[in-house]
Order: sequence, then C-alpha cells, then structure tokens
Amino acid sequence: MDRQQEQPLIGEAPVFLEILERVSRVAQLNRPVLIIGERGTGKELIAARIHYLSPRWDRPFVKLNCAALAESLLETELFGHEAGSFTGATRRRLGRFELANEGSLFLDELANTSDRVQEKVLRVIEYGELERVGGNDTIRTDVRIIGATNEDLPALAEQGRFRADLLDRLAFDVITLPPLRERQEDILPLAEHFAVKMSGELGLELFAGFSESARDLLLEYAWPGNVRELKNVVERAVYTSLGEDDPISEINFDPFDSPWRPGNAPEAAEISLTDRSPQEPYGFKEYIQEMEIELLQAALQRCRFNQKKTAEFLGMTYHQLRGYLRKYELTDSEED
Ligand SMILES: Nc1ncnc2c1ncn2[C@@H]1O[C@H](COP(=O)(O)OP(=O)(O)OP(=O)(O)O)[C@@H](O)[C@H]1O
Ligand SMILES: [Mg+2]
Repeated sequence: MDRQQEQPLIGEAPVFLEILERVSRVAQLNRPVLIIGERGTGKELIAARIHYLSPRWDRPFVKLNCAALAESLLETELFGHEAGSFTGATRRRLGRFELANEGSLFLDELANTSDRVQEKVLRVIEYGELERVGGNDTIRTDVRIIGATNEDLPALAEQGRFRADLLDRLAFDVITLPPLRERQEDILPLAEHFAVKMSGELGLELFAGFSESARDLLLEYAWPGNVRELKNVVERAVYTSLGEDDPISEINFDPFDSPWRPGNAPEAAEISLTDRSPQEPYGFKEYIQEMEIELLQAALQRCRFNQKKTAEFLGMTYHQLRGYLRKYELTDSEED
C-alpha cells in the first residue's frame, strides 16, 4: 500500500475541517476534482486523501508532475507510446492513464501543459479514450482525474492560455486550500506534529515542547511557503536544539541568514546628490540622520524586531540601540 495513505492530515481550524468534510464527500463521486492552493498548502496530501477515501482506494493512485517534463515527454508519459514511434522507442510503453486504469491519476501543476496535451486529456475525460503516441488503436481507460495547481486557471483560460472546455470538465468540484496564515489554529498542532516526528527520527525519548516566545514567533510569522516551510523550520529547530532538555526557544526562519551571506552586507544608503538641484541644498546632518533611520529599520526588519539581536547585528549595545530608537521615535511601544 502507498505510504502516503498513512500520512495524517493535521489541522483544527474551522476552514480546514470544512475542507476535510468536502474532501470526504467529493471522494465518493466518480468525477474530476481540482485542487487549488498556494505552494506547500497540502494539495498532494489532499489528492491522496481523495483517492483513498474513494471507491477506487484499492486501485492504483498514479501521480505525475506536468511541469517537470517537456511537452513531447509529457505526452508519452501520459498516453504511452508504441514501439518504433520515435528513435529510441524500442518497446511499447504504457502511459500513466493506462497505469492508473480503474484508479486515480493525480496531475500536478496542470496549468503548465500545452494545448495539445490538454486536448488529449479532455478526450480521456469525456470519452475514456486515448491513443498511444505513434499508435492507431483506440484504448479505453477508466481513470478519475485529480488535478492540482497554484495558478489562477480561470484567468489563464480567459487569456487563452488554458483550454476553457477542459477547465469546465475538471472543475466539477474545486477545492481551494487556504494558506497557513489564514488558519492560525493549525500552526501549533502542525509544529508539534513535525517536532515529535523529527525527535523520533533523531532517536530522542521525548520532545520538550516550544517555549512561549518560540510559540509566539511561529504564530506571528506569515509562512509564505505554508506547511512545507513550517515543517522545514520546525525540523531544523529540533535538530539545532539537540542535546538540550529545555523547550525549544530558538526558531530560525531563514537557514541562509548570516551577516556573511554574499551580497547581504548592509548597504550604505544610496547617495543621490546628483539628481538634486543646487537650489535644493542637502544638509550633512539631515543626510546622516536619514541614513541612520534607514539602517535601523532595515536591521530591525532583518532581526524580526528583536532588539537584542538588532543591537548585536549593528555592533552596538542594547542601550545604545534603545537610545537611537527613541531619538527617531522608532519604538512602537512606550515601555521603559
Ligand atoms: N494538513 C497537513 N498535515 C500534515 N502535513 C501536511 C499538511 N499539509 C501539508 N503537509 C505536509 O507539508 C508538505 C507540503 O505538502 P504538499 O506537498 O501536499 O503541498 P503542495 O500544495 O502539493 O505543494 P506544492 O504546490 O509546492 O507542490 C508535505 O510534507 C506534506 O506532508
Ligand atoms: Mg505538490
């Protein structure tokens, strides 16, 4: 059995629970489904869930990433080819549609397919018929298609970059996965889940949990890479805290973060005196202040508004930094 079947879907946000309910319902139907969502939102896991909850669960679940292959290769992958259909095709090869017969075919990154491939896919959906590349026989298959994309397919169809008739057929039901930042309730349960799993993989007896500040950091972050990014960040945090018994307090969102990263040195503010007319004098003091503010803001942002780290980063003491922040009114709270 596919390992993916065992992968749990974690989440308790109302929007996520609603999606799971829809997934159970749509799984029963013998119709195409389209899963839409930002990268890393769990489209592939949801596709697997649909297959394994469907009456086809004990038949093949075949996957293909359409963006990974050039057009002609994609065509032979999907529809197969006959022996001698092109140089090097010494034997007949079955395509994914035939391999997925009676099961489901997961077409990932479907937006990136050519018109020709889209037309052939439409024909399989409509009539269950296809021809292998280089072949004349019509082959019948019975495949349920589960498509996924992170693109706006209706917009692409409107621009003529995706077949509207195929979109109509695929969109019998559309499941749109919300990004992680829209389901905050899921962040900590997911983080806990990945941390426990990683601890197990590292042979640790137990996972000591996250400190309150670490939990706040996880909750505040916007997660542009969604669940996949969360998984990576949490696994790294568990690994980094190896050998400590305390709850995890260090969260590093960016493994490339380093003052020595090439091209990452804080740049001096650009001096654009040339595009100022001589009638518009530029005071030395004003300029220095502007540069200081810019630098402080950039450093704060880089250190995620952690003032201790920002001071360290700028090579000054915490009190010096506080002094500057007060001088330029860059503190957002009025503590101390
Ligand atoms: N609800 C969830 N519970 C547990 N793990 C999850 C959940 N959602 C996503 N994941 C995990 O996050 C990672 C990304 O998920 P997946 O590959 O399904 O996303 P995707 O939407 O297909 O991403 P992409 O658009 O980049 O292909 C995987 O490791 C997956 O196991
Ligand atoms: Mg995917």
